[in-house]
Amino acid sequence: MATTLLSPPARRGLTASAITVALVLVLILGPAAARSHAANMFGTLRAPGEAAFVAGHRGDRSQAPENTLPAIEHAFAGAMVFVEVDVRLSADGVPVLIHDSTVDRTTNGSGRVDELTVAQLKTLDAGSWYSADYAGVRIPTLAEFLVLLAESRTKAMIELKGTWAEEDAAVIGSLVEEHGVADRTVVASFEAETLQAMLATAPDLPRLVLARELPADPVAEVHLHHAIALVTNPDALDEAPETVDIMHEAGLGILLYTLNEEESWADALGMGVDGIITDTPSSLDGWLAATAPGT
Ligand code: G3P
Ligand code: CA
Repeated sequence: MATTLLSPPARRGLTASAITVALVLVLILGPAAARSHAANMFGTLRAPGEAAFVAGHRGDRSQAPENTLPAIEHAFAGAMVFVEVDVRLSADGVPVLIHDSTVDRTTNGSGRVDELTVAQLKTLDAGSWYSADYAGVRIPTLAEFLVLLAESRTKAMIELKGTWAEEDAAVIGSLVEEHGVADRTVVASFEAETLQAMLATAPDLPRLVLARELPADPVAEVHLHHAIALVTNPDALDEAPETVDIMHEAGLGILLYTLNEEESWADALGMGVDGIITDTPSSLDGWLAATAPGT
């Protein structure tokens, strides 16, 4: 029956019913869709005591200089599910793997990364500061990392450092697509503008919201960026441990960084977090195998 044939009160009733149905569908299907996106990347969201996945922080920096290809190769050789790397743009717009805004700490050079061209960055020694065994190791480009990633079975967590505009962020999605690793890559950022730039330029690439302190409404914050998970630290989570359940009920993941001690791994497992980012991925793998076998 056409609604125009209904009396005004009946039409209002029908409209109210339609809105109620739509709201119910959003409440049911929204978390279900989010859960499926998070589960595609992380596996089923964890219950307390279940083994979290392991992400090697800046590669495996317990074995080789952080964010270099040797550290990445160590991570790929281990059993960890993810390798986490930090990315910045060179002065000439090439994404490179480096954590700090300057090259001072992790190379033999000095200056801001975004004021040096990729050719200049490539002249620097990014290994000697760590150990003479790694003398001459270079800062890798993101493209070099993605070549190795494509040959591995590991997933990548690419953190974009600083604030990226859309025109700069577009290169990330293009490179990931070009190397055929879009189905096992997530991008992460502490910066809202960067997450929005990634959402605009590569909407299908899953996003993680990094937060040093818990947002007032973590679910809303993650939804704002159409992201699949929140990544925070134990001190922040201690302030509101119920956040784990709240995220899971919304179908979203929750990950912790950077946990390097057995005590903190045990706490994270007990809370049911989905992933642990660690500087010692091989040790955590071994600990999980002994602590939560078969989960
Ligand atoms: O992924 C989270 C963690 O990597 C963020 O901290 O400073 O080590 O990049 P940071
Ligand atoms: Ca990082």
